[in-house]
Amino acid sequence: LDDPAADPFEVAAQAAADIARLTGVERHDIALTLGSGWGKAAELIGETTANIPATDVTGFSAPALAGHVGSLRSILTAKGRRVLVIGARTHFYEGHGPRRVVHSVRTAAATGAKIMMLTNGAGGIKHTWKPGQPVLISDHINLTGASPLEGATFVDLTDLYSLRLRDLAHRVDPSLDEGVYCQFRGPQYETPAEVRMAKTIGGHIVGMSTALEAIAARQAGMEILGFSLITNMAAGIQTTPLSHREVIEAGQQAEPVISDLLARVIGQL
Ligand code: 6GU
Repeated sequence: LDDPAADPFEVAAQAAADIARLTGVERHDIALTLGSGWGKAAELIGETTANIPATDVTGFSAPALAGHVGSLRSILTAKGRRVLVIGARTHFYEGHGPRRVVHSVRTAAATGAKIMMLTNGAGGIKHTWKPGQPVLISDHINLTGASPLEGATFVDLTDLYSLRLRDLAHRVDPSLDEGVYCQFRGPQYETPAEVRMAKTIGGHIVGMSTALEAIAARQAGMEILGFSLITNMAAGIQTTPLSHREVIEAGQQAEPVISDLLARVIGQL
């Protein structure tokens, strides 16, 4: 993937072939990327039929952070859907470039998945939100200055986060709120001034993932659903300093509730 002459879709096709061989599952229907706080969801979705280290699959790099699990699981739901659970996210702030960041999404598409569910832990801007609360992503603002698309690839991003799937999620949990996700490069958290900017331009959630992945998923023709777990309020909204430990702990506390939510949404698909 680091070789500019390599075709990232061919690398993804190789990765999908690795997954088929290592899991014994030829095609998946749904893919789910687990962000911080969402790690336990896999257990409730269905029966795990295979769990493989992501590093055994072409193009996947070792996880950079504690709290980010580096495995790929194949799960069979009660309805007979095959879910590819991606517990190995490469973040843009790691500096490998957008191709590596979206490789898991392109791989998921190459396994046959038509639905891409993206989850993350993020900072909240809306004062009515509380840490530990899951929110639906209604749209995004890509503030990374980067794109996973290469060359003159003009992709429409209207209704990027599927209205059909958001409606379905609202039916599962009518109390779910929605917000616009702003992807910053990170890894530093935002300054209070950057958070005010995000709010002014229409953002409600700040994070370091998801937007680039959603763009790649749209390019691949997938239907997209995004969830943020509000692990903390963004800088300047909360007055105490942000810490990575706080983010991980909020995730751990919210885990049972949001895992149940994800499992119920997937159960409806
Ligand atoms: Cl406040 N900002 C960003 N960019 N990512 C986060 C966060 C904040 N809280 C959790 N993840």
